[in-house]
Amino acid sequence: MRPIQVFDDKMEGSKAIARHIAHLVKRRREEHKPVVLGLATGSTPIGVYEELVRIHKNEGLSFDHVVTFNLDEYYPMRPSSQQSYSWFMHHHLFNHIDVPAQNIHIPDGALAKNHIPAFCRGYEAAIKNAGGIDLQLLGIGRTGHIGFNEPPVSADSITRLVSLHPITIEDAARDFGGISFTPTEAITMGISMIMQAREIVIAGWGPNKAAIIKKAIEANIDEQIPASYLQTHPSVKWVLDKEAAAELSEMTVHTDA
Ligand code: GLP
Repeated sequence: MRPIQVFDDKMEGSKAIARHIAHLVKRRREEHKPVVLGLATGSTPIGVYEELVRIHKNEGLSFDHVVTFNLDEYYPMRPSSQQSYSWFMHHHLFNHIDVPAQNIHIPDGALAKNHIPAFCRGYEAAIKNAGGIDLQLLGIGRTGHIGFNEPPVSADSITRLVSLHPITIEDAARDFGGISFTPTEAITMGISMIMQAREIVIAGWGPNKAAIIKKAIEANIDEQIPASYLQTHPSVKWVLDKEAAAELSEMTVHTDA
């Protein structure tokens, strides 16, 4: 995949990402090796998961050697709640493929607050023990967040409890039936773990993301634009639809595509 790919619509972009992931999963299986995927939530990756489920069902791709680590979870949040990222992942992906339950890792939003730091250290240790993340899938929030790393965030931030930005709370309120019901905190992988992934694929669809995507790709690296740290990653691919890419300068798209 090229560093910036622009598709006519999100369906085409989602299928391209799913094919790319499926290729990695298949290759590792042929090598009899596990593969570690870092997974994202939100509306952005839904089409990718749909296509992976289709490939599993129609083309027989197995995920039984796949290990997954999700980026984040709201706090507080019971995993069984329909608004949890745990529920989201099972609903959109895990319930429909053959990934072993013990290989699935999602930050636990039901912990007592004083247990969170130890949990976060364990989460990072588990990623390292699994061999590190081979491919990290990302979306981008309107604040420029990746995972729930809201601005300002440092490059060496670790997995931790964070406060959500008011814009993020406003965006999430749709899923929670109003701002007053929306969590104001979350547990997220930090920028440093995301940047350690061997490969990163970040997707963006629609006009609402165009301005922040332009900043993340074309502005200087800045703690106020968390996704701008990706500029220093050796293997990052932006997969966009036309609307999300609309504000990029022609040079950016042309040079990199
Ligand atoms: C959520 C998630 C992010 C996601 C972002 C964008 O808050 N924690 O991982 O990338 O917001 O959401 P959406 O894909 O719905 O636009």
